[in-house]
Amino acid sequence: MGILEWATSPLGQRVPIHIAWFLIWVALIAGLVFLIVHAIYVRYFAKHKEFAVDAAASVSPSLPARIPRHSLAARLFHWIMAAAMFVLLFTAFLPKVGVQFNWVTYHWIAGSVLTVSILFHIIHATFYLDFWSIWPDRSDLDDARKRFQRFLGKSAAPLRKFAKYPLENKLYHGVVMLSGLAVIVTGVCMMFRVRTVFFPRNPYLFSDMTWGMMYVLHGLAGVGLITLTIIHVYFAVRPEKLPITASMIVGSMSREFYLKEHDPSRWVVEGLSDRRRVADGD
Ligand code: HEM
Repeated sequence: MGILEWATSPLGQRVPIHIAWFLIWVALIAGLVFLIVHAIYVRYFAKHKEFAVDAAASVSPSLPARIPRHSLAARLFHWIMAAAMFVLLFTAFLPKVGVQFNWVTYHWIAGSVLTVSILFHIIHATFYLDFWSIWPDRSDLDDARKRFQRFLGKSAAPLRKFAKYPLENKLYHGVVMLSGLAVIVTGVCMMFRVRTVFFPRNPYLFSDMTWGMMYVLHGLAGVGLITLTIIHVYFAVRPEKLPITASMIVGSMSREFYLKEHDPSRWVVEGLSDRRRVADGD
């Protein structure tokens, strides 16, 4: 049993038509296994986090009680994208596991919402947010090496507290970005195969082989997003992550949580420099 389904084109060529749908179950089980193994590891084996001393003590008097984390625009983007993602996953995969309904229309509408929200996000993050905050930096790699040494039972210098996003979040963002772009680019092309309000249907835009590869990439990235979504929701509801999840609703986190996990010199709080200047009488 292969991971692709094949057919013979009118020209007699053997072409892939889409992924084999048992991969839905593989992705679902992979996500569930990840969360079970992770939960057991954290509960019984993980060592306590130990951070190096940072600048927290010197900045804490000038910090507000609530630390702004996500602007209203960023939160609206997140929840619109999340809603589109769930609609896409359910409309794509429920019919494949036996729940039949007219899914294609809901699917391309949600796909269009996802596409527009991601275009907004790219512009917003590039010009209005701290673009580099979500990409791994030298400190992240250095700390990852130390964490691996500690995992192997070797001694290692204490880690720096996190910048705005820990390395895991940055890596997750990278993988979701790649899968998201793959479903969007292929999905927009696939809209030419169905009737939409945007452009006339044109199933002859690409050769059968190119269409087949496109459906395969769409499906592979799509099932990957099943696993990634399970992992994301799992972390969002873990007790120690709830303050972070809440900040995606209310926009801020407590000063105590910020100082416990984050290094103020790596994640400089918006407006803090102005506040300090005022306090210093400048
Ligand atoms: C979470 C994201 C997505 C997932 C999991 C997903 C999954 C799928 C799956 C499994 C199919 C069936 C393909 C087949 O029969 O081989 C499909 C079809 C389709 N997808 Fe997506 N998709 C996603 C995002 C998108 C996006 C962003 C768009 C548009 C911008 C889109 C547009 C389409 C279209 C038009 C079809 C119908 C193709 C046809 O029936 O010929 N999808 N999608």
